[in-house]
Amino acid sequence: MISLNNVSKKFSTKQGTIVAVEEVNLDIKKGEIFGIIGYSGAGKSTLIRLLNGLEKPTSGQIIVNNQDITKINEVKLRQVRQKVSMIFQHFNLLWSRTVAENIAFPLEIAGVPKEQRITRVNELIDLVGLEGRGHYYPSQLSGGQKQRVGIARALANRPEVLLCDEATSALDPETTDSILDLLVSINEKLGLTIVLITHEMQVIQKICGQVAVMEKGHVVEEGNVLDVFQNPQQAITKRFVSQINDSSKALQTIQQLKELYPDGKLIKLGFVGEQTVQPILSRLIKQFDLDVNIVQGNISHTQNGAFGTLILQLEGDALLVDKAIRYIHEQKVNTEVINND
Ligand SMILES: Nc1ncnc2c1ncn2[C@@H]1O[C@H](COP(=O)(O)OP(=O)(O)O)[C@@H](O)[C@H]1O
Ligand SMILES: [Mg+2]
Repeated sequence: MISLNNVSKKFSTKQGTIVAVEEVNLDIKKGEIFGIIGYSGAGKSTLIRLLNGLEKPTSGQIIVNNQDITKINEVKLRQVRQKVSMIFQHFNLLWSRTVAENIAFPLEIAGVPKEQRITRVNELIDLVGLEGRGHYYPSQLSGGQKQRVGIARALANRPEVLLCDEATSALDPETTDSILDLLVSINEKLGLTIVLITHEMQVIQKICGQVAVMEKGHVVEEGNVLDVFQNPQQAITKRFVSQINDSSKALQTIQQLKELYPDGKLIKLGFVGEQTVQPILSRLIKQFDLDVNIVQGNISHTQNGAFGTLILQLEGDALLVDKAIRYIHEQKVNTEVINND
């Protein structure tokens, strides 16, 4: 659906040249929810604006629907923008227009006749859950409702791609969840490809299948969300993943756990899927004459499945404990002995 080949974007300012995006390569497939995460200033907004031609790259190729959008004229670019629409952190609504009039705006620009506009606006109002609010003004709506208007407006011309620039960053956690649910349902119902940028790993975890991590204009890590969460490579990715796993807190508790469970060995298992760990535990208990205590566990859910960690205390004959640990290793479960003394 979208590919970026060696895309860079530089801005010339009085202070000198700013490289906002550098040598980025990405492949976004039709129908997927693709997340781009990074801290402020990483180049996310610039990158997403390149995808619908709001910014022109300094170098590189941007292919959208088999067209190199860096090589087409304004008229064609406007057609592309109807198919690649966008929502924003601060909604960008027209304050003097009602909900219905805001949603109708892109239809007016596209020259859709009035009757059809009205029908389409009503469909969209239903789709985003704003029934009965068509005549409200934006100032009469909550943040979540405003973003629903933004989404309806973005969908008016039946786009194939929806770009979301920090679309939930101005919302409280509950409203964020409801907007993310709406995005997933639109993705499923309409087969819409969604590219979203965020600085919140929870957003990636909840709805994305693929993720790219941006730092200083570069994509430093990329892949399936579950893989990246389980096995983050770059320091920045580990930091983002720890927003979910809260590993700094976990580390403290490991210290505490060592004190609470001084006997035997404490081992930490990392697992994928809820099923994998269950048979290992029961075999461990059956095959080895050990006391197996579950000390702590957590599980996180992503669009591609669940992953988590489990901390066990193994008590008994030292040789048997070592054997049991070797056995768990052989089951290809990520195993780590926490207290080795
Ligand atoms: N129009 C512009 N002119 C000059 N510099 C810009 C412009 N847009 C963005 N930048 C700079 O590019 C870098 C990346 O910005 P941005 O893409 O907005 O990052 P993010 O969305 O990740 O916070 C920043 O250093 C920003 O100041
Ligand atoms: Mg931004």
